[in-house]
Amino acid sequence: MTQILKKIESVKGELALPGDKSISHRAVIFSCMAKGISEIENLSNGEDVRSTLKCFSELGVKSKWENEKLIIEGKGYKNFNAPIKNLDAGNSGTTARLLTGFLSAQPFQSTLIGDASLSQRPMKRVIEPLSLMGAKFSSSSKMTLPLTIYPPEKLSPITYEMPVASAQVKSSLLLAGLHLDGETCIIESEQTRNHTEVMLGLHVEEREGKKFIYSSQKNYPSAQNYFVPSDISSAAFFIVLTLLAKNSEVILRHVSLNETRTGIIKVLTEMGSKIQIANLQTSNNELHGDLIVQSSELHSIEIAKEIIPNIIDEIPVLSVASVLGTGKFEIRNASELRVKESDRISALVHNYKLLGLNVLEYPDGFSVGGTIQNENPVFESFHDHRIAMAFAVLSMFLKNGGSILNFDCVKISNPQFLEQINSLIQQPNSDE
Ligand code: S3P
Repeated sequence: MTQILKKIESVKGELALPGDKSISHRAVIFSCMAKGISEIENLSNGEDVRSTLKCFSELGVKSKWENEKLIIEGKGYKNFNAPIKNLDAGNSGTTARLLTGFLSAQPFQSTLIGDASLSQRPMKRVIEPLSLMGAKFSSSSKMTLPLTIYPPEKLSPITYEMPVASAQVKSSLLLAGLHLDGETCIIESEQTRNHTEVMLGLHVEEREGKKFIYSSQKNYPSAQNYFVPSDISSAAFFIVLTLLAKNSEVILRHVSLNETRTGIIKVLTEMGSKIQIANLQTSNNELHGDLIVQSSELHSIEIAKEIIPNIIDEIPVLSVASVLGTGKFEIRNASELRVKESDRISALVHNYKLLGLNVLEYPDGFSVGGTIQNENPVFESFHDHRIAMAFAVLSMFLKNGGSILNFDCVKISNPQFLEQINSLIQQPNSDE
C-alpha cells in the first residue's frame, strides 16, 4: 500500500503508546519460560512480538487475552513440546536471535525461519558464541536463516567478550546461560540496551570501562505480572513531529526511560529540543515517565560514537529532525545500520537523494545537507517500518506532502501509527 501524507501545521494532544518492543519480547519470553501464570499489560501490538508469541505457541505455551492483558501459562524449565512445524520469526531479529539462545538449551530439534529480510540478516554473531558453549546448528554457508538447532550433547557456560555491540547477542547467550549450573559471563565494552539483565535482575559488574553480566540457572524466571512501558522508539516519531511543527505540544504517557534507550532524548535536547519529563515510575525494574514535547528551534550537533548503540533504532527519525531542523546531518561509526530490517544507510541515502539534497554515503554512515528541491517525492520504505515512519514524518513538512511505498510495514512495531498521527493534527492525513 502507498501512503500519501499531506503537509501539516501543528500537532496537539496526548498519546499512551503500546508497550516497548524490546521489553515486550522479553516479557513474553520470560513468561513462557516461567512455570505458571504471568500477566502482561500494555504489550506491544506489533507483528514482531506476535512472532515471538507464535513461536512459543508451537512449543506448547498457551496464552489468551483478558481485559487487554495477555495471560500466559508458562511451561517451566525444559518442559516445552518439541515443535511440529518450523518456528517462524517473521521480520523479527530479536525473536530469531533470542530464541536461538533459548532453543540451544532445549532437548529437541527445532528450525527457525523468517521472512525475506530476516533471512538475509547475520546469525553468525549468535551461532559462533553459542557453538563455543556446545550448541549444535546447521545453516546455509552464509550463516543466515533457516537455522536448525539440535539438542546439545553438553552445554557449558562461557565467558565471552562481544565483538559487536548487540543486545540481541548478549541476550541470546544469557538466555542459554539460564539453563546451566555454572555462570555464563558476557562482557560488553559498549553499553547496549540492558532489558534482559534488568528484568531478570542479573548480577552486573563494572570494571575497566566494561560491563560483566552473569547468568545461571538460579536466575531462571518465575511467573510474574508485567507492565510494559510505552515504546520510546515509537515515541521518537511523535517527538520529532512535535519538535518540527509550529505552536505544538504533545504529551506522551508512561514512555520507557531506561537509560540505555534515552539517547534520543539526550541528543535531541542537545540540539535544542524542549522535552520535559514528569511522573517517573518503575515497573519490573524498568523506569518510565511522561514526556511533554513542544515545538523547538534545533541546531546541529556531532553524534558521539559511544551513544550509537543507544540510539541505533532512532537514527532514521533523528536524521529527519536534523535535516529539517538544522539543514544537515552526519552519522559515522554506525555500520550496524546496514544489517537492520533493511540496509538503513542505503535506504536513507536513497530517500534523501530523492529530495535533491547533497548526500554522501560511507561504509559506516552518511551525511546529508543542502536545500530540498523536490516538494512531492515518492519515498521507498524498503519494507522497513522505521524507514516508512521516518519519511512519513518528513513528508508532513513538505509543501506538497509526500508518499511512501509499501507503508503497511509499519505494523511491525506500530500498526496504529496513522490513527495516532491523525488524532494529533487538525486536518487528518487520510488513506489514499
Ligand atoms: C534489540 C536490540 C537492537 C535493536 C533491535 C532490538 C533488542 O539490535 O536494534 O531493534 O530487543 O535486543 P542489536 O542488539 O542487534 O543491535
